Amino acid sequence: MKKHIVVLTGAGVSQESGINTFRDSDGLWEGHDVQEVATPQGFAKNPELVQEFYNQRRAQLKEVKPNKAHFALVALEEKYDVSIITQNVDDLHERAGSSEVVHLHGQLRKVRSTQYEDLIYDWDKDLKMGDKCAKGYQLRPHIVWFGEAVPMLDTAVDIITQADMVIIIGTSMQVYPAASLVGFAPARTPIYYVDPNPTLNYELQQSNNVEVIQEKAGKGVSELVTQLMEN
Ligand code: APR
Repeated sequence: MKKHIVVLTGAGVSQESGINTFRDSDGLWEGHDVQEVATPQGFAKNPELVQEFYNQRRAQLKEVKPNKAHFALVALEEKYDVSIITQNVDDLHERAGSSEVVHLHGQLRKVRSTQYEDLIYDWDKDLKMGDKCAKGYQLRPHIVWFGEAVPMLDTAVDIITQADMVIIIGTSMQVYPAASLVGFAPARTPIYYVDPNPTLNYELQQSNNVEVIQEKAGKGVSELVTQLMEN
């Protein structure tokens, strides 16, 4: 049976594709306070601004491509069962060709009803105020904002409890509950953490099995995958 590798990714895996991370830019996200564009309160206060912000992010997906790190994770599937659990809302893992990708914080290329959170639609164009779900309620980005529940969390916990190895890539491990997931890996599971500026959060400090690879994802993940394919 193939070994099961669970990969936890954050904004850093897409940085070399040209998508900015969150916390590397003074707490601002593309010039905006996260409270403005990534909370239900921000949306209630200025829905047009929030829709436009995500429209720009969605449009940006057409300008960017998966990078070496995304592709290296696809190559890993030749030898391992690979599950990717990402905090990213971009589609670069899918476009690289990864077969199992769980999005903890939603997806830019989907929208959902403001009233019924299970009414989700694929969406590639701009979303405007006045665009409605099948039941007549305003649509919003399918993004998990701060203070909202993380519907895919249970699925992610189930996956990581079955890990033989964990690889963490490009996340500051600051945003919970996503950052707590690594604590659900079985005891003594080897954990690799690829990040040029790693932060060992509480869960990582509890583990004796963390190997930090202080590199950007393109280089660090490619080298790690080469090593894992040889083992
Ligand atoms: N390769 C790998 N890692 C990188 C690179 C790179 N080229 N460039 C930066 N990083 C690292 C940074 O050192 C940092 O540790 O990526 C991490 C990015 O951290 P954050 O900006 O905090 O992103 P992330 O951890 O994904 O944020 C989590 O916060 O705003 C919310 O919902 C949003 O999903 C997001 C969540």
